[in-house]
Formats: sequence, structure tokens, C-alpha cells
Amino acid sequence: MKIKNKAEALAAVRECGLALEDISKDTKGTVMKKPSEMRNVLCVGDVHARWAWLASLLLYFKPDVCICAGDFGWWPKFIDLPGIALPSEVLEQTEIRFCDGNHEDHPSLLAAAPRGRFEPVEIMPGIVYQPRGSVMEIADGRRVLFAGGAMSVDRKFRTEGRDWFPEEVLRPEHLPSPVPDADVVVSHTVPLRFGLNLLSSSVYPAGNLFDPSREALDIVLEGAKPDIWIAGHWHERKDWMLGRMECHVLDMVYGGVCRPEGTPWTFWLSGGPGIERTGPGWALPGGAFLPLRESGSKFYACADLEAMDDGPMKKAALRLLAGCTAHQVDGVWGVKPGDADRMLENLCRNCWRA
Ligand SMILES: [Fe+2]
Repeated sequence: MKIKNKAEALAAVRECGLALEDISKDTKGTVMKKPSEMRNVLCVGDVHARWAWLASLLLYFKPDVCICAGDFGWWPKFIDLPGIALPSEVLEQTEIRFCDGNHEDHPSLLAAAPRGRFEPVEIMPGIVYQPRGSVMEIADGRRVLFAGGAMSVDRKFRTEGRDWFPEEVLRPEHLPSPVPDADVVVSHTVPLRFGLNLLSSSVYPAGNLFDPSREALDIVLEGAKPDIWIAGHWHERKDWMLGRMECHVLDMVYGGVCRPEGTPWTFWLSGGPGIERTGPGWALPGGAFLPLRESGSKFYACADLEAMDDGPMKKAALRLLAGCTAHQVDGVWGVKPGDADRMLENLCRNCWRA
């Protein structure tokens, strides 16, 4: 199959997961980054296809690579793909690498990387899927092993074949044997041996919460002997030491604000922001930035319309302000942070596409 452009790529992905490898070959003008190009490596937790929030974070921190620890939001049949929805500015600057979580379209990922394939696949330009058992190397020579998959505690509310797939669970046979040594492991859920139990059955009354993926991750823990373990899935930030190993469970990427000191959903595996940030707020394409400002006891996402160039960003900001209860804060217009979610999604839908 010969695919000429992004629109055709999208159509092909929707039509059939088998086209994924062709898309990678035929539409990208670049190749995956080399280890030497991966100096600033930012890890994030669950994205759940909230591309606007991911874009804002990446525009703010500007990493060479962003590693997503599963529940990335790969739903080619009914949600915009990241290679289409993310601003080209983000994709040119940052390579995105993700392992699978439980909430992904597993058949299309398996079509791109059948079990036993332990190599990364660039499934769209700038978007790299790291199958279970695959390894990447970063600039300082450290090896990062990926071990995606988990069981959905909310599976009773989902439809098999549409938004739930039994292939979500990580099994020992999905992994290379023996499991290779690694400095860092990125997984979606965590090994059983971590003893972590944050989700309560009253929140997810789905019955048995036992996840066999966690036993499989015990095998990864034993085989890889990493110094650092990074995971998502639990929708909560938690950092601790287990013996000599650092463990970081990251929160979801959306619903918050970018902060220079980092956030519950980010972890710098290597490097860090090399340029001074303006402070907390929301980064937008083209260098626009909506700072978080305090007025009285409330915070607002502020748009300095006079300082913004006329263009799609300004139009989107005006549309947003027209639809919200806007306030004057230090002479500029501000909206409540809750409306920032609507604003980012609106910008993503209407202004960011390449
Ligand atoms: Fe998850």
C-alpha cells in the first residue's frame, strides 16, 4: 500500500490496522530519533487521548522525547489520532513514545507489532509505539525497557471488541525470555510486589480487581533489575524507594496547569527544562502562553489579547472569552481554570492542525 499524506494515513488506520507499518514507511520524512538525540526525556502518565493537554505540556517543557506510560489513547477507529490532532510544532520538536495501557485499541497495536516483536514501531510520524518487551536507549546510555498492559477495572461498563479487549492483560509469554537487563522500566500498572492498592472497589464496583499483569511485572522486576521504575494507570502520583530502586507512579496529564517545578504527571528521566519558564500556566502553539494569575482568592487562566498576534490563537481566545464568565485580572481577560479544559480542546479542534 502506498500512502501519500496524513489524511490517507488516517483513513488507512481507520480502515485496517494492518496498514500501520506502511504508514510509517511512506508518510514520514524523518526517522526515529537516535539515542544521542534523546537528552531531555520527559515521562508522563495517562493521556487518555487528551491531546490538547499533552500538547500544552510539551510546548511548555520542550523535551526531545516524551515517554507515555500507557493509556495513551490510541483509538484509531473513533478518536482523533495524535499524529493528526497534535500541532506540527509539537511533533517536530518532540518524539512521543508510548507503551500500551489497558485503554487502547489493542488489535491495531498488535497489527503494527505482533507478539514477539520487541522493536519500536513508528506508527505515525513522530509517534512511536514501544511494544511489550521492547527497549530504547537514551543519550546517557541508559536502556529503557517497556512493559505495557493492564486489566481494566471498569471493563463491565465497556463493550468487548469496541473499547475493551482481553489482549489488554500483560502475560509472561508476551515478554522476551529471559527478560533483558534494563536501567529503567516503563510499565502501565505496577508489579504485585510493589504492594500498591490505591483503587477502591467502591469506586469501581467491577468485582475482582486482581490483575494478572502485575504478576507478569514481577517477572520483569526480577529479570530487568532496574534502578528506576515508572508507571501510570493509578491516576495518582506516588514516589518512593523500594530498596535501591526509585519508583514513580504518575498522575493523568489533564486537569491541571504547567508548572516550572514539574507536576504530578511529569518526571524527567534525563535533562530538564533548559530555558526559563514564565511561570505556571498553559502553553499554546506559536509561543502564546496563558499564565495562571490570582485575583482575590481565585485563580484565572489569563489571555493578554493586546499582546497576542492576530491569528487563530487570538480568535480562539476571543471565542472562549465570549462563551465564559470572563473577568479582568491585572488588566487582562481571565477565565476560571475549569474553562481552560474547554479552551484547550477548542484550540486543538479548530486551530492546531497542520
Ligand atoms: Fe490504565
